[in-house]
Amino acid sequence: MRVPLELNQQTVAKALAEALAEVNAADSFAQLKALKSTLVGESSTLSKLNALIKDLPADQKAEAGKLVGSARAELNAVFTRRESELEAIALDQQLEAEKVDMTAAPVSIRQGARHPLSLLMDQISDVFVGMGWEIADGPELENEWFNFDALNFHPDHPARAMQDTFFVSPVENHLLLRTHTSPVQVRSILERELPLYVLCPGRVFRTDELDATHTPVFHQVEGIAVDKGLTMADLKGTLEHFARVMFGPEAKIRLRPSFFPFTEPSAELDVWHAAAKGGPRWVEWGGCGMVNPNVLLAAGIDPEVYSGFAFGMGIERTLMFRNGVRDMHDMVEADVRFSAQFGSVI
Ligand code: DAH
Repeated sequence: MRVPLELNQQTVAKALAEALAEVNAADSFAQLKALKSTLVGESSTLSKLNALIKDLPADQKAEAGKLVGSARAELNAVFTRRESELEAIALDQQLEAEKVDMTAAPVSIRQGARHPLSLLMDQISDVFVGMGWEIADGPELENEWFNFDALNFHPDHPARAMQDTFFVSPVENHLLLRTHTSPVQVRSILERELPLYVLCPGRVFRTDELDATHTPVFHQVEGIAVDKGLTMADLKGTLEHFARVMFGPEAKIRLRPSFFPFTEPSAELDVWHAAAKGGPRWVEWGGCGMVNPNVLLAAGIDPEVYSGFAFGMGIERTLMFRNGVRDMHDMVEADVRFSAQFGSVI
């Protein structure tokens, strides 16, 4: 059975001594805080003794009040002092733990960068998406028929020869690494409804040695439009717009007669590069022309009803003369310091 609490000098002195002992024993701010309600709160022994005052005869209340009151005041004072001591210690410990050495060498994390060829292909795609064109891709491992036959290359055309084209063995399968993005012309016509306006940036392969201006793996962008009534004027207008976005508002283009098996007439495309290092000049940029009726026929389109234009250019070459990259090695070596120079907008 619990002895009921009695209010007298001894019990008050004992309650105070016990509480003080506990306050002094607490050695961390957290520990003291946890003791707060049992030592100085409503559930503390001194509070309970205080509650007994109201039951005392009236003439004893004042003295008992003083007795308990002074004990509580002392305890509160000691508690508060100890609390701020321990709080200061806790703060010191925290600051020590979170100390930053301002003289330490920083850990540098090098950011990666997108390759300028990817940036350029994205930018070119944006120009054509802006004109309502679709972006397509085709397989890098291609059938000889799409890469050559359907594009009106004769069986003995020199471009097919082993020294240009990576044929994939066994040769009887007629598979090769595409030598240009032009097979996407035929694939697009076969796969899509007419009219079509399709752009295909992509990787192509030729058996060239890597040197300052050649690489066996490179990129091209191909454009093909097939619609009723398309003429050379549509081709020229499209290329002119493209040139101005890429080379600035003063850019002009020039078409020089040329030959490609898959276009008739065919032209070499030059661009007037006003901001060229060493002064403004014409630069060979790519090839283009009106889609050869034989290509339309190979894809089952009646050339009496539809006509088309096409163009293609090298991305590495464009990056070289547009952005002043001098050596192909820089483009294939994947050194992030090269890519980082271009930032994220080319
Ligand atoms: N395929 C050609 C090449 O690799 C480039 C080309 C020329 C693409 C004329 C075309 C074109 O679409 O019309 O050299």
